[in-house]
Amino acid sequence: MDEREDFQSIMPFLPLFLRSSSLFWQPAVAEFLKCLAKGPLHSKVNSGESFAAAISDMRKEFRLSPLHPSASLGFSRFFDSLMKADASERWFADVVPGLADLLLKLPVLLENHYRNGSICNGKETGLRLLESQQSGIVVMSQELIAALLACAFFCLYPTRNRGSQHLQPINFDHLFLSLYEHDKVHQEHKIKCILHYFERICSDMPTGNVSFERKVLPFKNCQSNIVYPGTDFWSNSTKSLCQLEVHNSGLIEDHCSEALEVDFANKYLGGGALGQGCVQEEIRFMINPELIIGILFSPAMEDNEAIEVVGAERFSNYSGYAASFRFCGDYVDEKSFDTMGRRKTRIVAIDALIHPGKRQYKSECLLRESNKAFCGFFNQQKANLLMKGEDFGPKHDMIIEEGPSTSGHNILTEDLSDSIQGYKRTTSCDTVEKKGNKVDQYSIYEDDGIGVATGNWGCGAFGGDPEVKVVIQWLAASQALRPFMLYYTFGLSSLQKLEEVAQWILSQGWTVGELWNILVEYSTQRFKGETTLGLFNWLLPSLYADDPILGAPSLRSKILSFFCR
Ligand SMILES: *[C@@H]1O[C@H](CO)[C@@H](O)[C@H](O)[C@H]1NC(C)=O
Ligand SMILES: *[C@@H]1O[C@H](CO)[C@@H](O)[C@H](O)[C@H]1NC(C)=O
Ligand SMILES: *[C@@H]1O[C@H](CO)[C@@H](O)[C@H](O)[C@H]1NC(C)=O
Repeated sequence: MDEREDFQSIMPFLPLFLRSSSLFWQPAVAEFLKCLAKGPLHSKVNSGESFAAAISDMRKEFRLSPLHPSASLGFSRFFDSLMKADASERWFADVVPGLADLLLKLPVLLENHYRNGSICNGKETGLRLLESQQSGIVVMSQELIAALLACAFFCLYPTRNRGSQHLQPINFDHLFLSLYEHDKVHQEHKIKCILHYFERICSDMPTGNVSFERKVLPFKNCQSNIVYPGTDFWSNSTKSLCQLEVHNSGLIEDHCSEALEVDFANKYLGGGALGQGCVQEEIRFMINPELIIGILFSPAMEDNEAIEVVGAERFSNYSGYAASFRFCGDYVDEKSFDTMGRRKTRIVAIDALIHPGKRQYKSECLLRESNKAFCGFFNQQKANLLMKGEDFGPKHDMIIEEGPSTSGHNILTEDLSDSIQGYKRTTSCDTVEKKGNKVDQYSIYEDDGIGVATGNWGCGAFGGDPEVKVVIQWLAASQALRPFMLYYTFGLSSLQKLEEVAQWILSQGWTVGELWNILVEYSTQRFKGETTLGLFNWLLPSLYADDPILGAPSLRSKILSFFCR
């Protein structure tokens, strides 16, 4: 296994060492762990304070610095004063020994992972760095993930060179340091979610798989992949808009359709999950803690990249948001499994522009955001499958091999390259019509019916314009051939009319290209200060007819009649 390329990329970031093709803990660390596994009577680790001391001792063996004093005090604060005495006693008597046992199994779990399960249908799926500008997927069992997360709780990961590889810290010391230094109730509840996860896996280890995939739209021409689109691609697109279903209450993670759930991500996956953060992305990482392990091996996303995680189980219920976030007990995840043993929970991390201000109305920013969402929503594997012209069925959920296309130019292939490469159709209407029918008939997206569930992406702390962001995500979902988009407004007042606007737009029969052009027109005016109206008011003055100011007729009708055939 020492010669495996995948393993070599992650090895420097794991606390294990390799000897004659096998993985080991350093003997001294293994002794510490064995001692912890025997329970507090043996190890004397029965409090936050003694646990922090044990961690610092183990870290010495790796020549890692001892825990920061505030982190040690954070462990102590959580387990020795915030947590009830009987709960704390149970934690050190049952859970810590269980986690130590699991850590002792980590070398074997990893060896088995590389030996048995690291190639799926010809594609590499072993744990490795999912490096920037390379699309790739890592598939791990929930048990291996649990062991890797236990290692983060014990703060044993090497910290060297993570920054230079654009990797965030993965050890949990900052979670506790922030608890001590900032003393916020929501921080305590984030930790409660994670501890609840550890309690659950110690009493009943889940048996599914979780995959982490880096999705890339390459900037350069590349035979087997979709190239990063330019404005022409959007402007010329003849794809139809998908259905848009507006929800003024409810949460993305509670929807019950089959949909990609958008993580309003930081370019560093997980954002402030292991620090002080507690908004949409961080909350998702707390209730589905397996997401956290992506931080170990996912360098920051660039503009043309997204990360999709399939199968992360939800363990906790919660209420509130940011400062009001609270752990509300156990959550039993009832999602069914796919053929790879993954729960059908699909979470896609896409990072919006941060504080774009007025710049967000410039066409390069519209393009950046549309492409980012498109990258997240697009299904590269199915695109490859379609491009290869292979036979496929509705339940075909496997990963296919890369490789040059062997089949000729069939109708599917051509239509897909139209949608993907933005090739201009030169065929007559007649042929296009036929192609359209053919694709509808075979479209795997229609078959598996997986839509997008999203909300005010990049509009909270990141300061995006919600009306513009809805339209961008709608364009991207439609272009990615998603059958529908569920939109959760979180009751945002500027989106009160979204339902009406969306219905009106759909009734116009506009294509993606037509709506894109209108968005660009609005944004140009907005950027130049020629309008200060929100997009919906600008687009549909009649909706605001009862408003004496906003209801006044304007130049928009001219623009609309120009674009609307
Ligand atoms: C989750 O918590 C909310 C708010 O406390 C509660 O209304 C809901 O019933 C809980 N759901 C489950 C599945 O426990
Ligand atoms: C998880 O994936 C491995 C290899 O990719 C596979 O052998 C195993 O059957 C999967 N587990 C389940 C529960 O399907
Ligand atoms: C889009 O349309 C314009 C104008 O018809 C054309 O010049 C351009 O080549 C097209 N671009 C693409 C990518 O199809």
